[in-house]
Amino acid sequence: MVLGDSVFLLLIFSLSFLVFFSAWRSIKKWKKMPPGPTPLPFIGNILQVKPNDMLKSFGKLHKKYGPVYMVYLGARPVLVLNGYDAVKEALIDNADVFGARSTPPGFKKFFGEYGIISSNGERWKQLRRFSLMTLRNFGMGKRSIEERIQEEAQFLVKELNKTKGSPFDPTLYFSRSISNIICSIVFGDRFDYQDEKFLKLLKLLNEFSKLLDSPFSQLFLNFPRIMQYVPGPHLRILETMKLLKEFVIEKKKMHAESLDPNCPRDFIDCFLIKMEKEKQNSASEFSEENLVVSTLNLFIAGTDTTSRTLRYAFLILLKYPEITEKVVQEIDLVIGQDRAPAVEDRSKMPYTDAVIHEVQRFADIAPLGVPHAVTQDIEFRGYTIPKGTMVFPALTTVLKDPGWFKNPYNFDPGHFLDENGAFKKNDAFMPFSAGKRICLGEGLARMELFLIFTTILQNFTLTTTKEPKDIDLSSALSASHVPRPYQLSMHPR
Ligand code: HEM
Repeated sequence: MVLGDSVFLLLIFSLSFLVFFSAWRSIKKWKKMPPGPTPLPFIGNILQVKPNDMLKSFGKLHKKYGPVYMVYLGARPVLVLNGYDAVKEALIDNADVFGARSTPPGFKKFFGEYGIISSNGERWKQLRRFSLMTLRNFGMGKRSIEERIQEEAQFLVKELNKTKGSPFDPTLYFSRSISNIICSIVFGDRFDYQDEKFLKLLKLLNEFSKLLDSPFSQLFLNFPRIMQYVPGPHLRILETMKLLKEFVIEKKKMHAESLDPNCPRDFIDCFLIKMEKEKQNSASEFSEENLVVSTLNLFIAGTDTTSRTLRYAFLILLKYPEITEKVVQEIDLVIGQDRAPAVEDRSKMPYTDAVIHEVQRFADIAPLGVPHAVTQDIEFRGYTIPKGTMVFPALTTVLKDPGWFKNPYNFDPGHFLDENGAFKKNDAFMPFSAGKRICLGEGLARMELFLIFTTILQNFTLTTTKEPKDIDLSSALSASHVPRPYQLSMHPR
């Protein structure tokens, strides 16, 4: 009887597999779907896209199927775009159709479709326009964003002076400063570096990014309904998201209590004022939930990205002392020692500008981008892409496109310099992605990178105990690009 049941089950399974397989083949042919590996029922292409080796898996599929291919994450089809031409054709030439966001179900479970990152349509338009205006300094307090960054850079120098030339891991130093800049913009004030609440918040943020990089979490984000019952570190994601949200809700309450509508101090004040103004407008998206999630978005998206890039930048400088020396010479020539670096210096510092661009290209910290979705059925490169299909713009394949960068896998500031040493733009420089969804914090991040990078080199000489040739620039993780932990010493100049 038991044997009979098993045979029957096996038969059913084989039959459903055959039905699924032949249905999939004929749909694919009929609909002119892009090439890609054959998926299995329920688990999709998990055998080809390994959660513990995502980037390598996508790289292999790119080699096999070319610039545009389709994989299945579970039952969900994902269009993967590779190389400058395909990504540009989608995100820039067909910006409206490819400009929607697809949010993994694990995130949706917690944030819904609120805030800037996860929303679409009219909600996204209103929130994005408002946030961009606020970040560009319209109507927010007396101090400019540049001044807020300059102030933080000086606090960082003071803190670095305390290391007195001893070796240290720079991670916490960069994340405290970068996070403080966002805190100053969204919450109105920076925190003291030793503030316990601040350190707890940073620990949460750090934990959140680390958790996101684990293979369990990749599974959780895509299959929350199953994975919420499987024990593992991914269950901490929900807990950390909850704590981060509670922190923002508390800040929002404090702001509402002390709000002066004539003198907004920060992003939250501006949002509260807008909410009040649009109270009677039923189409307004300025709600409490959108305030909390948008603030969280800026906070999460704006901390680890820039500080991770800075960590990469200084590791690269330790490996290439001759490049560091040229940057320092340019700093001495253009800025000198008597004043702090300012954004307007950048245009007079082509070599430094090229080095920072090359750091971002080489560090490649968002290798698969952030998932998009198509808003309608579209014919793309001869294939039919159905409405709602999830899209991964694989930014790593743009930043390392051999058609645009002559040494794609080497660190070479020459990628951004012409034969006269002037700064040279490159259209395939897309660390912030491209099109309608391009990073909202691009301007802020570029200012932060320039001002903090130059302020540190203006004030310190860097050393490390390792020989440059022994410094390993490869990523510490397999699902994204993160520099390996390192120690450096900073000696006052
Ligand atoms: C080096 C630093 C940074 C890098 C490399 C980076 C990269 C990215 C990328 C690749 C995206 C996805 C764009 C897309 O969907 O195609 C993105 C989106 C976003 N980033 Fe950044 N980012 C950085 C810093 C920041 C900062 C400082 C902020 C905050 C102020 C920020 C806020 C956002 C937001 C809100 C979005 C979502 C935009 C939308 O959906 O409309 N980012 N970023």
